[in-house]
Amino acid sequence: MSKTYLVTSALPYANGDIHLGHLVEHVQTDIFVRFQKLMGHQCYYMCADDAHGTAIMLSAEKEGVEPEEFIDRVKAQHIRDFERFNIEYDHYYSTHSDENRQLSEYVFGSAESDGGIIKKDIQQYFDEEKGLFLSDRYIKGICPKCGAEDQYGDACEKCYATYSATDLVSPVSVFSGKPPVLKDSTHYFFNLEKYRKDITDWLDQNPVSQSVKNKLTEWLDGELKPWDISRDAPYFGFKIPGTEDKYFYVWLDAPIGYIATTESWAQTKNESHEQYWKNEGVEIHHFIGKDIMYFHTLFWPAMLAVSGFQQPKKVHIHGFLTVNGEKMSKSRGTFILARDYADELDPDILRYYYAAKLSASMEDIDFSLEDFVHRINSDVLGKFINIASRIGAIVNKKLAGRLSIIDDEGAALLNNIMGHSDHIQSAYDALETNKCMRLIMECAEMANKYIDDKAPWAMVKEDEEAARIVCTVALNALRMLNIYLSPVCPNITQKLFDFLGVSGQSFGELSLNLENAKIQPYDHVLHRLKLEDVTSLITPNS
Ligand code: 2FM
Ligand code: ZN
Repeated sequence: MSKTYLVTSALPYANGDIHLGHLVEHVQTDIFVRFQKLMGHQCYYMCADDAHGTAIMLSAEKEGVEPEEFIDRVKAQHIRDFERFNIEYDHYYSTHSDENRQLSEYVFGSAESDGGIIKKDIQQYFDEEKGLFLSDRYIKGICPKCGAEDQYGDACEKCYATYSATDLVSPVSVFSGKPPVLKDSTHYFFNLEKYRKDITDWLDQNPVSQSVKNKLTEWLDGELKPWDISRDAPYFGFKIPGTEDKYFYVWLDAPIGYIATTESWAQTKNESHEQYWKNEGVEIHHFIGKDIMYFHTLFWPAMLAVSGFQQPKKVHIHGFLTVNGEKMSKSRGTFILARDYADELDPDILRYYYAAKLSASMEDIDFSLEDFVHRINSDVLGKFINIASRIGAIVNKKLAGRLSIIDDEGAALLNNIMGHSDHIQSAYDALETNKCMRLIMECAEMANKYIDDKAPWAMVKEDEEAARIVCTVALNALRMLNIYLSPVCPNITQKLFDFLGVSGQSFGELSLNLENAKIQPYDHVLHRLKLEDVTSLITPNS
């Protein structure tokens, strides 16, 4: 039965470029979305820029432009970068929108009328010269535990201790370099503890993997502290209704941006967000990284419950990307931007590599340059595209581009490939794309063995019609592999569908054999990779 999904990736901050780390998540999500569409389901993919907060305000100020101008420019660049990697959103929006303002006020208002908002006076460091309350990242000082200098206000990078900014020894503001003063301010807090049951009821429906559930149970065993959801002016965001100088903290309105993006998109179809967020017939799936798990699995289900929206069916959580086994780093040159990659290399092969590494677990994945080159050459080129180039050459040069029929032996091979279909589908559905790529490559190996055994390049000299049958079988095997791989490599598979003279095909069309057809000339699809092609992506700063 056909299902309806609404799927999101985490909203990138409008404060920096898209890099290979973002792409892990957006590629993983896009593969899931394309797969569900191929299975004949309705699947809508929403994303947006996360446009609020102090960091964005300060970046705009540094450039001497208004924040609105700054975020518009960054959003346009983000859209261009993602497009180059064939990430196909149904809508890409911004959290700085009227829809999001209204929905954020609605969610806040719902919590307020439910008694879920607490007002408290707190003391916070303030930079008098800059006129700014300082979040932990804008204060540096000596670690109270180990005495290391130049540590941030929340945690020590030397001894990993976590603490409050007020515990730092000799704190200074990163802006003025002067000691900050403590200033009183009234803040709004979301009373998370009040919504404990909404969270645990949601968790009972298994929206997360067992290992995530274990982590959440640890958090839930302790007290759920009230969450500070307001920030004082100056701040770039939405003003809290009824106040003059208080704004919603960026993390309050960011996830609400998922709903606001849906609203902006739904309007174009004369629909509303309610048809998705208040409709149990729609499955909501979020894709996020493990660093923002707390927001999506505690605060977010609670916020949704209090405002009458449905909670996500699944929150899929992935690990971080390392490059050559280490954290991405600007100084080591391993902080690779999406556009720098796309200027040099084919985006589809990065998608393949990520797919071959990703599973449903939170384990980190490594972009190892040598392994990348090896895997692309041996799998994508050696086992897959190789079929098209070898057989295409024979059919076009020796057999006038015409296919014939599939004989019994060929049908047995194609049946074998078909036999993997259920496993491949369930692996895609479960985000076990590493397993999926293994299964697809097993099918490709069977096809290559068949071709090697038959040696149609020799056969064609003796018996053209026998060679034509072998080529027909081989290209039908390619057609099936192409369907299997199309969620992962949309560009490459489109080119190969064009070569075969068929339009893109779905899983339901796996058995529609291509016989007595004319194929198109084979155009080179991908070059063999050399290590130098890839190492040039890494340019260490000296
Ligand atoms: O961590 C981040 O990059 C955030 N901008 C993600 C926000 S996701 C959602 F909540 F909006
Ligand atoms: Zn320390």
